[in-house]
Amino acid sequence: MAMRFSSMNAIVTGAASGIGRASAAIFAEEGARLLLVDRDREMLLRVADDLRKMGSAVETIVGDLSLESTAVEIAERVRQMGSQIDVLVNCAGIDMNASLAETSAERWDEVMAVNVRSAFLVCKHVVGFLSARGGAIVNIASAAGISPIANHPAYNASKGALIAFTKSLALDLAPAIRANCVCPGAVDTPLLHSSMNQAADPAAARKAVEARYPLRRIAAVEEIARVAVFLASHEASYITGAVVPVDGGRTMH
Ligand SMILES: NC(=O)c1ccc[n+]([C@@H]2O[C@H](COP(=O)([O-])OP(=O)(O)OC[C@H]3O[C@@H](n4cnc5c(N)ncnc54)[C@H](O)[C@@H]3O)[C@@H](O)[C@H]2O)c1
Repeated sequence: MAMRFSSMNAIVTGAASGIGRASAAIFAEEGARLLLVDRDREMLLRVADDLRKMGSAVETIVGDLSLESTAVEIAERVRQMGSQIDVLVNCAGIDMNASLAETSAERWDEVMAVNVRSAFLVCKHVVGFLSARGGAIVNIASAAGISPIANHPAYNASKGALIAFTKSLALDLAPAIRANCVCPGAVDTPLLHSSMNQAADPAAARKAVEARYPLRRIAAVEEIARVAVFLASHEASYITGAVVPVDGGRTMH
């Protein structure tokens, strides 16, 4: 196994579950020292323990990423870790399956706060540490930010905004820092399950989702995480501002 991240430090948000957890595992396997952030204390500590058992150096912060105080805490911890960060993956996010009429102003704000504001806040507070040695930001947006999912106006808007924010970062932080986003299609995670469980017939909902994808299936978390890690690595040294669909072909047509 290549060790693309030996003596590098990586932050992964939303690391307690799904795509964030899978990304953290690959970074750990490839030598990175990790700072993992999530609001789910129990799961986050379990993920960190598992990675430590495999020999990785892992720190954790339990916090709500929609709050600036969590981003400030991350920056403080980075200082304690030696003020050097090579990789930031903003993965924390929530889904919202609700029509325009069902979307309250409060729920709209919540989706925006978790899916966009959190990435803005973490970038703002750690960018100084990233630029010190050149570095890479990877934001986990969604295919929904390119081509909308029905009945998801707030979610689609939040992911479209995250894509535009990523391009802004790429433009403004070049040449020192690269910033890219991954746009997953449907991925087998608790986020997708909770969305499908809101349907009257979850099994039929799953079949309907699969039918929308030319590859005719839902992705495994590793299929997304591998691309996020690639974009964070030196192998992607000439890629910045890219919006990379990893969506089984859904948004190509
Ligand atoms: N699963 C999919 O089908 C899919 C598709 C496209 C994009 N995505 C995106 O991928 C990212 C990861 O999703 P996932 O499917 O792995 O979901 P997941 O629910 O498995 O994991 C998301 C993690 O983010 C954490 N989180 C949520 N809100 C938070 C907050 N305010 N503060 C701190 N932590 C918070 C959760 O506790 C959880 O551990 C999300 O941004 C999601 O929008 C997922």
